[in-house]
Amino acid sequence: MNKKTIRDVDWANKRALVRVDFNVPQDDSGAITDDTRIRAALPTIRYLLEHGASVVLMSHLGRPKGKVNPKYSLRPVAERLFELLPEASEVRKTEAITGPAAEAAAAALHPGQVLLLENTRFDPREEPNDPAMAQELAKLGDVFVNDAFGAAHRANASTEGVAHHLPAVAGFLLEKELSVLYGALENPNRPFVAILGGAKVSDKIGVISSLMQKADYVLIGGGMANTFAKAHGYEIGDSLVENDKLDVAKDLMGQSNGRLVFPTDAVIADAFSVDANTQTVEIDGVSAGWRILDVGPKTVELFKEYVGKANTIIWNGPMGVFEMEPFAAGTRAIAGAMAEASARGATTIIGGGDSVAAVEQAGVAEQMSHISTGGGASLELLEGKVLPGVAALNDK
Ligand code: 3PG
Repeated sequence: MNKKTIRDVDWANKRALVRVDFNVPQDDSGAITDDTRIRAALPTIRYLLEHGASVVLMSHLGRPKGKVNPKYSLRPVAERLFELLPEASEVRKTEAITGPAAEAAAAALHPGQVLLLENTRFDPREEPNDPAMAQELAKLGDVFVNDAFGAAHRANASTEGVAHHLPAVAGFLLEKELSVLYGALENPNRPFVAILGGAKVSDKIGVISSLMQKADYVLIGGGMANTFAKAHGYEIGDSLVENDKLDVAKDLMGQSNGRLVFPTDAVIADAFSVDANTQTVEIDGVSAGWRILDVGPKTVELFKEYVGKANTIIWNGPMGVFEMEPFAAGTRAIAGAMAEASARGATTIIGGGDSVAAVEQAGVAEQMSHISTGGGASLELLEGKVLPGVAALNDK
C-alpha cells in the first residue's frame, strides 16, 4: 500500500481523530448482536493509546438520513467499547458530533483517553460530504486516521472530506483489508477462483466482469445464476430473475472464454417457504410453478473440484436461500470446501456480507484466512473501483 499508516506518525501527546466503522447489527432492543467490527478496530485504538495519543472516534450507525434518531445512537456501542478496552484510562461518549461541545470534549482528553462522538449520520452534512462539516470535524484532532474499511467506499465528510484538512493516514484494519484484497487481486497464488452468489446479478455485474479478467475461474451461484440460466435459454419456472439483465448476462457469457462456471443442477421448491415441496433437478428441468432456491449436489461437486485445486479463493454471496434449512446445503458445502482449502494452505477470503454469516453458521469462520469487515466496500474494491476513503489519505 502506498498510503501512510499510523506507524508513520509520532503520536506522543497528539489527538488522533479516527473514523471507524461501528455500523454493527442490533436486535429490536438495541443490543449489539455481533461486535466483530468493534473488535476489528481495537488494534488501531490500542496502538494509538500505547504510543501516547488520545483518541476521538467517529462512526456512522444505520441510515438515519441526517436526522437525530435515538434508535441509531452510538450509546450501546460506547458501552461495548468500555468493556472491550479496559486499558483506556477513560472512554467517554458525547452527544455531539461537531461544534463547541464536541470541541470541548475533545480538548479535555488526556493521552490514554478515548472519546466516541455521536453517529456522524445524524448530521445532514455527513453523506453529501459537506466541506463545512469536514472542517469542523478536523478541529477535533491533530491527525486523521481512517480505519473504517467498511465505509471506505462512501465519500462522506467523516471518511473523505476530513482527510483534506489534516494529515491523513490508514489504521491497521484498513491496511490489512487492502493488503489482503489487493494482494489476491493483483498477485494471487494461482489457480485463483472467485465464487459469487447472492440474489441479484445487477449488484454484481461490475464484480463479475472485473474478476473474469483477474481470476482463473468465477463460479456463479445463488439467485443471480437464474438470470444466466434464462439468458442461456433454460426454462427457470418461477425462479427469481432479472429480465432487464438478460442481455448483460448474455454479454458476460459471451466474454467468458470458459472462465464463468454455472450450476448444472438445482434444488427447486413449489413455494418460497421452509415447508415447500422440494426436488433436485438438472438445470434445464425446472417446471412452471417451481423455483430454484439452492444449487444441487452435482453443482456442489463441480464447485468443490474448482475450490479443491485453487490456491486463492474469494467468496462473496450465498449459493441459495441458506437462511432456510432445506436450501442451505449448497452454501454450507462451499463453506466446508473453503475450510478444507484453508487447511491445505490456500488463501481463503470471505468478501463480507451474507457469506460471513454463512461461514459463521457453518462453524468454519475461524478457519478462513480473512473475513472482510466490508460488504459494499469489498465489492467495490473487487470491482476495481477507487475507494474515496482510501484515495484521500496521504501517500507514502
Ligand atoms: C456497511 O455496513 O456496509 C457499511 O457500514 C456502510 O454502510 P452503508 O451501506 O449504510 O453506507
